[in-house]
Formats: sequence, C-alpha cells, structure tokens
Amino acid sequence: MAEKRQLLFCYMLVFSLWSCIVYAVTDSQDAAVLRSLKDQWGNVPPSWDTSGGDPCASWEGVVCNNSRVTTLGLSTMGLTGTMSGDIGGLSELISLDLSFNRGLTGSLSPRLGDLRKLTVLILAGCSFTNSIPTELGNLSELTFLALNSNQLSGEIPASLGQLSNLYWLDLADNQLTGQIPVNPGLDNLKVAKHFHFNKNQLSGGIPGKLFDSDMSFIHVLLDGNQLVGSIPSTIGLVQSLEVLRLDRNSLNGSIPLNLNNLTNIIEMNLAHNKLIGALPNLTGLISLNYVDLSNNSFQRSEPPTWFSTLQSLNILIIEYGSLQGSIPSGIFSLPQIQQIKLKNNALSNKLDTSSVSSQQLQLIDLENNNISSVTLGSQQGSTLMLYGNPVCSSSLQNTVYCQIQQLDASYSTSLVKCGTQTCKSDKKVNPQTCECAYPYEGTLYFRAPSFRDLSNASLFMSLESSLSTNLSLSPGSVSLHGLSFNDDEYLQMDIDLFPTDAELFNRSEIQRLGFALSRQIYKPPVDFGPYYFIASPYFFGGAIAGIATGCAVLVLVLVALGVYSLRLKKRAEQAMFFSKPFASWATSGKDNGEAPQLKGARWFSYDELKKCTNNFSESNQIGSGGYGKVYRGMLSDGQVVAVKRAEKGSMQGGHEFKTEIELLSRVHHKNLVGLVGFCFNQGDQMLVYEFMSNGTLREILSGRSGIELDWKRRLRIALGSARGLAYLHELAHPPIIHRDVKSTNILLDENLTAKVADFGLSKLVSDASKGHVSTQVKGTLGYLDPEYYMTQQLTEKSDVYSFGVVMLELITSRLPIEKGKYIVREVRIAMDKNDETHYGLRERIDPVIIKNTSNLIGFSRFLELAMQCVEESASDRPTMSEVVKLLETMLHEDGLNTNSMSASSSGTEFRPGNNNGHPYEDSLNRKEAIESDAFGYSNGCDLQARAEPK
Ligand SMILES: *[C@@H]1O[C@H](CO)[C@@H](O)[C@H](O)[C@H]1NC(C)=O
Ligand SMILES: *[C@@H]1O[C@H](CO)[C@@H](O)[C@H](O)[C@H]1NC(C)=O
Ligand SMILES: *[C@@H]1O[C@H](CO)[C@@H](O)[C@H](O)[C@H]1NC(C)=O
Ligand SMILES: *[C@@H]1O[C@H](CO)[C@@H](O)[C@H](O)[C@H]1NC(C)=O
Ligand SMILES: *[C@@H]1O[C@H](CO)[C@@H](O)[C@H](O)[C@H]1NC(C)=O
Repeated sequence: MAEKRQLLFCYMLVFSLWSCIVYAVTDSQDAAVLRSLKDQWGNVPPSWDTSGGDPCASWEGVVCNNSRVTTLGLSTMGLTGTMSGDIGGLSELISLDLSFNRGLTGSLSPRLGDLRKLTVLILAGCSFTNSIPTELGNLSELTFLALNSNQLSGEIPASLGQLSNLYWLDLADNQLTGQIPVNPGLDNLKVAKHFHFNKNQLSGGIPGKLFDSDMSFIHVLLDGNQLVGSIPSTIGLVQSLEVLRLDRNSLNGSIPLNLNNLTNIIEMNLAHNKLIGALPNLTGLISLNYVDLSNNSFQRSEPPTWFSTLQSLNILIIEYGSLQGSIPSGIFSLPQIQQIKLKNNALSNKLDTSSVSSQQLQLIDLENNNISSVTLGSQQGSTLMLYGNPVCSSSLQNTVYCQIQQLDASYSTSLVKCGTQTCKSDKKVNPQTCECAYPYEGTLYFRAPSFRDLSNASLFMSLESSLSTNLSLSPGSVSLHGLSFNDDEYLQMDIDLFPTDAELFNRSEIQRLGFALSRQIYKPPVDFGPYYFIASPYFFGGAIAGIATGCAVLVLVLVALGVYSLRLKKRAEQAMFFSKPFASWATSGKDNGEAPQLKGARWFSYDELKKCTNNFSESNQIGSGGYGKVYRGMLSDGQVVAVKRAEKGSMQGGHEFKTEIELLSRVHHKNLVGLVGFCFNQGDQMLVYEFMSNGTLREILSGRSGIELDWKRRLRIALGSARGLAYLHELAHPPIIHRDVKSTNILLDENLTAKVADFGLSKLVSDASKGHVSTQVKGTLGYLDPEYYMTQQLTEKSDVYSFGVVMLELITSRLPIEKGKYIVREVRIAMDKNDETHYGLRERIDPVIIKNTSNLIGFSRFLELAMQCVEESASDRPTMSEVVKLLETMLHEDGLNTNSMSASSSGTEFRPGNNNGHPYEDSLNRKEAIESDAFGYSNGCDLQARAEPK
C-alpha cells in the first residue's frame, strides 16, 4: 500500500515537471521583460520574488499561451515605480491591466505602441503624467482603452483616430488640454460607443465633424472641460446616442433644433454653460428620462410644452433659469415623473398640484420663484419646497412647504443584524456573515444615473445583488455607503466587497475584481448608467517571515494583558456596552445578546436620525419625560415620524428597549402605534414610530391642543384603544400585557383614530405561566390595578383596570389623581342611578362634552362599564374583548359607524382652528410647549419656531 502511494507520488512529480517543461517555460525574451519590470516596480506579488520560478508557471498576474505572455493583470497590487520601455517587448501581449496602482508614476512609455496584438489597455486610476504617446495609435487591434483618472496632460493625439476597432475610449479625469482632434482624428472612430473625455481642460469648440450619422456613440461625456462655441447641429445625426453630457463648459450660442431628433437619448445634461436663445424643443425625445438645463442664459420664456408631454420624463432640472409664467399642471401627472427642480426662476401665478398622480413623485422644488397662490393636491409622500415665494408670506406662511427642507438620508447597507460589531485595524464587518474581514474597497462613480433619490433602498439593494452576482461573491457580501452626488453631478459611493469564507482575498481574486470593474465586465442595473471605479490599495496580509517574531510579540502582549487585565476588565465592560449593545442586554441571563428579531422595522443609523430631526433640534422636539425626548422627523421618503430618544441616564433599560423593538415590530393593528424602526448606536437608544399628528389623549383632554371632543368621539376613542388592547391580549402571539395603559399612552392620528403606544414595559405572557406572571410591579400611579399591586400577580385584567381609569378620564377629562383625590373613588361616591341623564355626575362631566353634545347616548352604560373595569377583584372585571363588544353596541345603537373615522366623516364635526388643508394644520395654532409624560409623546410642536428663514 505504502509502496503504491510512493510510486504514485513519484509519477506525479515526474509528470508535473514534464508539464512544466512542455507548457510553462517562458519565452526567454518575455521572461527578460518581466524580470526587468520586477526590478523597476515595488510591491510586485511575492510569487515574482521566488528565485528560479518560471513566470508563466508561477508568477501571479501572468498568463501565457505557448510560452508567450498574453495577459498581464496587476490591478490593485499596490505597485510603485515607473513604466519601463521594456514592456514593449511583450510582443504577444493581448491584455494589459495595471489599473488602480496609485504608486505608478512617470510618463507612459511610447513603446506601448509596440504591443501590436493588444486589444485591452487599462491604466486607469494610476498616477501617470505627461502626454499620451502618439504611438498608441499603432495599436490597431485595440478595442478597449482606459487611461482615465491619471494626471496625463498635453493634447489628445490625433493618432488615436487610427484605432478603428476601438469601442471604449476613456480619457476622463486627467489634465488634458487643447482641442478635440478631428479631420483626421477621432472622427474616424466609427465603432466607438463610449467617448469619455469628462473632467479635463479641453478647450476650443466641439467639432461638428466628430458627429455623423455613421458614428455609433452611445455615451458622449464632455462635461467639466473648457469647451466654447455652440453645440454642433451634427449631434442630432447620431441616432444611437443615449447619454449626452456637455455640462460645466462655456458653451454659448443657441441649441440646434435637430437635437430634437435624438429619439434614443435618455439623459441630456447641458447645465452650467452660457447657452442662449430659446429653451430647446425636446418634444421628440421620447426616451428622455433626465434633463438638466440649469444655469444658462436662455431667453425668458413660459415653460415649454414638452414639460407636460414627455411620457418618459423622470427628472427635470432647470435651476437658476429664465422660466416665467405658470407651471403646466400636466407635468404633475406624467407617469414617470420623480423630481421637478425649478428653483430660482421667475415662475409666477398660481401653482396647482392637485393633478399629482405619480406615486413616484418625490420632490417639487420651486424655491425662490414668484408663486403667489397654491392649490395643494394629495402629494402625500412627496416634498414640495416653496421657500422664497410670495405665497410663503401669505397663505402658506409657517407651513412645512415654506421652510428650508432637508432631503433625505441616503441609503447604506444595513448592518443591523450584526449589532454594533466592530473590527480591528482595517477589517470591516461583512454584512452577510457579521464577521470581520478585509474587504476590497473602492469608490464607484456613476456618471449619468437616471435618478436622484439616494434613499431608494430597493434600487441600491439591486446594485448590491448585481455586484455580488456578477463578481461571483457570496450574496449579501457587498456593502455600500457614503452615497452622494458630488460636485460633478456624479453619483459617488464607497463599496466594500467581502471575501467568501476567508479574511482576505488572494492576489488573483483581487486582480479579477479589479479587472472586472476597470474593464467594465461588471454591468450595473440599467438605471445606474455608465460608471468608473477607483480601488483603494489592498492589504494582502502580513509578511510570512514574521511568524517567529510574531509569536514572541504575542507572548509579550499576553503577559502584559495578564498584568493589566484586572484593571482593564471594568473598563472593558463599559466599552462592551457601547460596542455590543445586544450583548449588553444579556444581563438578565435569559437574553443571549442576539440582535433583535424584527418584522418590518428598519434599523436607522444615528446620522440618519440626526439629519431627519434637524440635529435633534429643540424646535423638532415634541415631547419629553423621564425616559428621554421625542422628536418629530421626516424620513427620506417623506414619511413623518416620531423619534423617541432615550436620555443617557435612562439607558439602563436596554432589555426593555430590545423587548419593545421586538414586540412593536411584531404586532400590527390599526389601533396600535406602528414601529417604523430603531437606532442603537454608540449607546444611543432611539425608537422611530409613525407620527401621530394629534398627540396624546391626555393632551387633548387637558384642553391645551384646541381640539374639542364631543361625546361620540370619546366613545370612538375608547373603542379604538380597547380594540388595540384586545388585540394585544387575545390575538398577539404570544399575548402581550401592556402594563402601562394610560391617557398619555393613547395617541391620536390625523383622523383622531386612537392608537395604543409604548410597549416598553410590556410583558409577554408565556404559555407556561399563562394567567399570572409574577414580576416586579411597574406602571403609573393612578392607573395601577390594586390587586396586582398587592399580589404582584400580573394578568390581562390589570390592563382592564387601567383602561377603566382612562374611561373615567374620558368622562371627566381630569387626571386620575388630582388634588389628592382619586377619580375612581370620587365617581363611585358621586354616582346616582336615579339621575337618568348624568348619573349624578353633572358636576364632574367635562363641560366640553356638555357644550358639544345634545344627547349623551349610552352614557350610563359607558359609566357602568368603566366601573366594572375598575372592580377591586380582577375576576369581576370584563375582558378587553367584552369591553370592545359593549362599546361597539353603544355606538351601534347610536347609529354611528364604529369602523370608520375617516377624514370625510369627521369633516363636519371636527374643525380645529383654521383649516387650510395643510396636513399639520392641527398643530399650527399650538404654541405651548407641552410636557408629556415619560412614556408617551405629544406633538405640541411649535412649527412657527422652525419657520424662520435662514
Ligand atoms: C493560444 O494561441 C494559439 C495560436 O498561437 C491560439 O490558436 C489559441 O486559441 C490560443 N489559446 C488561448 C487559450 O488563447
Ligand atoms: C507608430 O506610430 C508612430 C507615431 O504615431 C509612427 O511614427 C510610426 O510610424 C508607427 N509605426 C508603425 C510601424 O506603424
Ligand atoms: C461664443 O464664444 C466665442 C468664444 O468665446 C465667441 O467668439 C463667440 O462670439 C461667442 N458666440 C456667441 C453667439 O456668443
Ligand atoms: C432632424 O431635425 C431637422 C431639424 O429639426 C430636420 O430637418 C430633419 O429632417 C431631422 N432629421 C431626421 C433624420 O429626423
Ligand atoms: C417641437 O417639435 C415637434 C416635433 O418633435 C413639433 O411637432 C413641434 O411643432 C415643435 N414645437 C415647436 C414650438 O417648435
């Protein structure tokens, strides 16, 4: 057996040596070139240093065919040095990729022109200087040339026009000067589809000769240069054109009429020039998705007709323009429209947004125009900005529309399931596994995305998944962050790509990723358009020679740690709280410190919430209490939310916090306040709830809100809250006891629908101990079930007791304990069944009810029900669902609709203050800062305080 194995081993050894000889011995000239490159460059792969190793056989990044080097791929290797002319000796080279080696400097060697077989030449993202060698024009096989993002200067050599097979020409982001060469020159590049010259210093005019009907351009990017003169009319002949960016130049003259022939154009950006004449007629651009004509010198005109006819229009931007007259309301009903940005024009008259129909419309920015009156439509979810218009000093004064509005937090890949896992050195958390690893990092630049909304999670998640799929990474191992539109109007984002089942990528994987992104093998989803990528240097792991030394150092470190560990322990525990919040919740012993189990709720970053609450500004504060403060905020999608932020001192309730997140995310009922998400960051605990524009029941009963509740409304509020509680007790799985039912925990939305809030003290009723949960007594004085207080046995009936107290509050509008008197006892004593109308409570019933209600139908039964709820003995109290049934009967017999509390049905009865149709109208007249209880929040926000101009 052993002999056999030895024989096999020998055989394999011989075979592999033989195969080396036959296939891998590198052509001596190619080997000499590579050795020369090795001597010139720093940081070549370690395999290049192995003395005696044959390049074709063992050098990373070198691929051979029949002993000849055909591919040299060294993307993101951290190479330093200059390009030796010797490289021209690799005469069989087909593909050369040196992208993203910022340490490569000096001139490009003219001998690159000797690589006659070359089809792909990528030198993007290095630091090469001086001019592009004319000899590159000799590379007649070249199809892909990327020299972008270097420091190349001088003129574009006309010889590049000889590259008749070239379809990708990227010279962007250099310091190239002079004119675009034609005649003969680049006008010969008949098959070139990509013409990326943006971000240089090119001057002169755009040569008309460059464009012709036999050209095949898809992307023409000339933005960010110093081009002058007018836009040549020949552009209209290039029917294939999809993206035209001429912005950020000094183009003058008027726009040629036949631009209107470009039926395939998707994005057209002519902003930041000196264009004159009439606004172009774009009626024929049936594919146009994005158009920006801002900052030009067009003559004053009414909005052109294409504003409301271009069915594919997504984003329209004409800022600092010469528009006057009124905005055609047709634009608001375009099917695809997402953003309309027309600030700083002279648009006037009446604005009518009542035709807003697109679900997608996010933004109408009309700041600094001359609009004097506005008809608001149902543009719910879209942001309308009117700051700086006359209408803001009249009818819309002090509304949200007239404030300087912040746009939304941008997307970033969620690490919620990893808690606040942190990593040492340059490692980062892999969002898929939550483990620390060295990602391949870099910045992706999209030069013409067809959207502007950076908060669209599904869009960016599609980018993540296309990256992981296309680049053969594990699903979910891509992280996007730092999204923004930069000064060039490019969408820029940082990406981290994580290795699969490993801490590090090896060199060939890095080269593969670098090439996929520099060679445009990776194709993003269509909305993202053309891109380029710049990688950051990669850390390939430490030197292997350092193992022995490393061990010695490790021992020393361990000894040192031992000595200090006791002292450090305490500090470490403190640090633990901040670094691993979910672990810190494990103090009860039952909680294993895992991330919360969420259904539908989102994780928010601290920055996101900070931004949406205007830096937690006082003017956004809508409530406060022992737990902390509550702020009003607007999320990126326009949703208004209440952000409950725990005070630093009250964060010992980490376990409660997690319980609340999990509970709230699991229960969904129209009479329960919905959890939108949460934030747990650097010891900050925040809960994000749907915003209840009418604040707490307590606040309304106190009369401070200006809303007057008649008897029927009170019945409905009682029914709504009872339904919410019945759901918690009987339908939630497992059932939930609220433990802190009170009027400050009943919130009212814009239709005065009651919703039960705050599950922070909730207790799950586990199956084992169903019926009696023994626990430390928690709750609020005045609402506390006396039996629970005495026995510490918590049941659903404790909530019923508290609810009974709320019912008494609904009758009297008084606090449960006022001037030392307890509402339950006061009512019990005063009750007189012989008084048929007021049951002996004439003095105690809230005068507001009497004022607004002619007939207190069901009053006696309501009172009796309340008194049943506050029976001493839990067994004498009804269940919540019995309460619901009885309340339903009262309302039913009263001929009232028990289900609907729609705005229309309330329209006749409910008129708080002056109603101008503004969604936050109820808050407008409230100036009083309202201190709400610790566990609820109010919205006594002073909108006027926030309406100051900047
Ligand atoms: C290797 O080169 C030969 C011609 O020299 C060619 O026919 C063959 O396709 C090449 N193989 C590869 C894998 O490129
Ligand atoms: C290569 O290009 C240079 C400069 O463009 C030119 O002078 C030379 O003749 C070309 N060589 C060949 C063999 O075509
Ligand atoms: C456009 O600019 C060029 C160069 O600055 C100038 O010669 C020309 O007169 C200008 N044309 C118009 C129409 O303003
Ligand atoms: C392009 O537009 C011009 C002027 O608007 C027009 O005369 C011409 O017929 C159009 N050409 C094509 C091919 O549509
Ligand atoms: C704009 O162009 C369309 C053709 O695409 C034409 O029918 C229309 O008359 C033009 N409008 C103006 C004002 O020139």
